[in-house]
Amino acid sequence: MLGNFTYCNPTKLYFGKDALDGLNEELPEYSKNVLLVYGGGSIKKNGIYDKVVAILKANGKNIYEDGGVMPNPTVEKLNEGIERAKAAKADLILAVGGGSVCDYAKAVSVSVNCGDDAWEKYFIRFEEPTCDIVPVGCVLTMVGTGSEMNGGAVITNHEQKLKIGHVFGEKVFPKFSIMNPEFTFTLPKYQMVSGIYDIMSHILEQYFSGTDDNTSDYIMEGLLRSLIHSANTAVENPTDYEARSNIMWTATWALNTFVAKGKTTDWMVHMLGQAIAAYTDATYGMTLAAVSMPYYRYILPFGAAEFKLARYAVNVWGIDPEDKSQAQIANEGLDIMEAWMKKIGLVMNITELGAKREMLDGMVKSTLIMNGGYKVMDEKDIRAVLQASFQSTFRSE
Ligand code: NZQ
Repeated sequence: MLGNFTYCNPTKLYFGKDALDGLNEELPEYSKNVLLVYGGGSIKKNGIYDKVVAILKANGKNIYEDGGVMPNPTVEKLNEGIERAKAAKADLILAVGGGSVCDYAKAVSVSVNCGDDAWEKYFIRFEEPTCDIVPVGCVLTMVGTGSEMNGGAVITNHEQKLKIGHVFGEKVFPKFSIMNPEFTFTLPKYQMVSGIYDIMSHILEQYFSGTDDNTSDYIMEGLLRSLIHSANTAVENPTDYEARSNIMWTATWALNTFVAKGKTTDWMVHMLGQAIAAYTDATYGMTLAAVSMPYYRYILPFGAAEFKLARYAVNVWGIDPEDKSQAQIANEGLDIMEAWMKKIGLVMNITELGAKREMLDGMVKSTLIMNGGYKVMDEKDIRAVLQASFQSTFRSE
């Protein structure tokens, strides 16, 4: 049975080949000063920057730039962005990029007027904003995180070896997001498949928890089937509009709070991924891929995991359940998932992502423990999963 919940998602979406026209509708809602936030330069190469700047100018905006937002944005960059937004007296922060740029824009938006250390306030003490929040809009160029329609902001502190996400409430969600699937065509394949697995992992984190026969779980099974179907096409033909547009839409629904409503959720794969990224700075979706199989195989014997993994195997991967035990069905599902992950080009171990044996103790300590999954992990469990995530040469030592 679903628990009590309220549901409201305030982000307005403009989707499709003409989505950027939506910027002309949105910009008049805000005063003159726009802080244009972007990453390492991909938008200058693929022409999106020129298109956005032309629309900003046509709408009479003063443009202040804040480029160079790195994948897995750092606390140092966040502090720089806060100063830039203050200097610009920004009325709107326009993020043009992937999850890193959108997350960063949200973290700046809640910090400009807060007068406190942003890292300490939001990422260590997990406080809510108590100051005016500068509105954020997004033009999405990379698909996966769902940041375009949620309150998530993940920031990395390399000095403290911590990568931490704060899931803010509705007031911090982007006011609008522009989603043109063609804007993602220039993504390197490595980034595209990393994003595809980020989406899959978001759905699985919310699916593998609880035992209810609820609407959310059926919706998630549908999203997963659509994702697998479209991913198979996109890997063969990255400019297949139908596939890329469905992946983009699935990503948004995978993490815009909708499917989690009224049910429990896990999120341990993300906590492990964040600890790995804090040490390696690896591409985020790949960290999730590299720990998923060891994690799901590790939790299989606990709680209702076997039941839910078997349901997943049948309803998502089409495993024939006849004359098989739940454990057999679940294992067949994981085997077929693993084969698919390898086929689409995901990284399947953390060694390949730069993780080293001497980082293990630190990564164990950096992993936040959640309690919504089938097994509440302790340090021993986390160590075992991470150890199994190294290449087999390390495992056998
Ligand atoms: O920096 P630029 O030049 O833009 O290049 C980026 C970056 O190198 C490139 N890229 C993006 N769009 C492109 C493109 N290259 C060519 N053509 C395009 N159209 O792709 C690289 C990766 O971009 P990034 O934004 O880092 O990727 P992603 O969207 O995966 O975001 C990752 C960040 O989001 C956080 C992660 O932890 C990580 O910090 N997450 C945020 C979540 C949320 N808000 O709810 C949930 C996620 O699970 C995740 O934790």
